[in-house]
Amino acid sequence: MKAIVMHRVGAIEVLELADRPDPVPGPGQALVEVAAAGVNFMDTGVRRGQFWTEIPFPRGLGVEGAGRVLAVGDGVNNVQPGQRVAWVYAPGSYAERIALPADALVPVPDAIDDRTAAAAMMQGLTASHFATNFYSVQPGDVALVHAAAGGLGLLLTQVIKLRGGRVIGRVSSEDKVVVAKDAGADHVIVDTEGQFAMEAVRLSGGEGVHVVYDGSGPMTFQASLDSLRRCGTFCWYGPVLGGPGALDIMSLPRSIKIGYASFVDHVHTPALLRTHCVQLFDWIAHGVLKVRIGGTYPLAGASRAHADMESRTTTGKLLLIP
Ligand SMILES: NC(=O)c1ccc[n+]([C@@H]2O[C@H](COP(=O)([O-])OP(=O)(O)OC[C@H]3O[C@@H](n4cnc5c(N)ncnc54)[C@H](OP(=O)(O)O)[C@@H]3O)[C@@H](O)[C@H]2O)c1
Repeated sequence: MKAIVMHRVGAIEVLELADRPDPVPGPGQALVEVAAAGVNFMDTGVRRGQFWTEIPFPRGLGVEGAGRVLAVGDGVNNVQPGQRVAWVYAPGSYAERIALPADALVPVPDAIDDRTAAAAMMQGLTASHFATNFYSVQPGDVALVHAAAGGLGLLLTQVIKLRGGRVIGRVSSEDKVVVAKDAGADHVIVDTEGQFAMEAVRLSGGEGVHVVYDGSGPMTFQASLDSLRRCGTFCWYGPVLGGPGALDIMSLPRSIKIGYASFVDHVHTPALLRTHCVQLFDWIAHGVLKVRIGGTYPLAGASRAHADMESRTTTGKLLLIP
């Protein structure tokens, strides 16, 4: 079977389309034919050697997807051959087939196609976690959402709006403004220099925002802090682009809450994953949450997908179609 592998870390050239042995499901595993694999920003960090350094070369890429179960190993009774499923955090998902723990699979309802399911897993579960568990957005709250036209940003904007919040989006170019507004953003700031705090405070009525969602690297950190109102919440989530470095707690605005959010710390069991996916798929099936697929590529186009994402020109979710 074909899969994307890398023999070393580095620029997009390290991503190779290779022939790999057909995976065989071991005990507790399922073999799945991948219909669509999600491209996440974290994959670019894996490619550059920021994460997964413990996985030997040749190293597979990709963490999420959707497809159909082909076979199951001993002891598997939660899924069966022929069933449509989706998953997240399974290394090696940029492939025609993958063997992965059956517990990591969730059933995909008939109302949701494979591409939408693959596109929704990482970013949808993350958006839901950020706006409900990490900071419970209340009606009337004002949120500042970075990279608001990206895969996560569009879904996060919609979940905040669902909960009655107002959204100020921040994007890097004018052409992303309409995309962020289509998802429900009330205001969109175009900025690449970290100069958005005064505008965010003005747009929030002079008080600052209740919550800022920032995974956009050191450039935005200080202005995100400056955008917060008294006792606001800073949801930080961007290990790929990096953090602000060591923080002196006494230099932070008093009484704010700040933390590194990741949905897996909240959705940490197979049962919780299924429950959260039922809610996510329900929103999608009822048209409450719209998943924008911004680009599809063949497996061989994985390096192009990474280049496009890193060029800051993409919107919505990018998918590989094996
Ligand atoms: N902690 C978690 O659990 C978690 C889960 C999912 C995603 N994330 C993080 O969320 C962010 C978005 O991820 P995604 O997968 O949904 O990707 P995405 O938003 O679809 O694409 C990445 C976005 O980051 C911005 N960007 C790209 N290169 C940049 C650079 N060099 N400097 C500054 N900004 C850059 C671009 O938005 P603009 O050009 O408009 O700024 C781009 O749209 C990433 O930081 C990712 O690591 C974290």
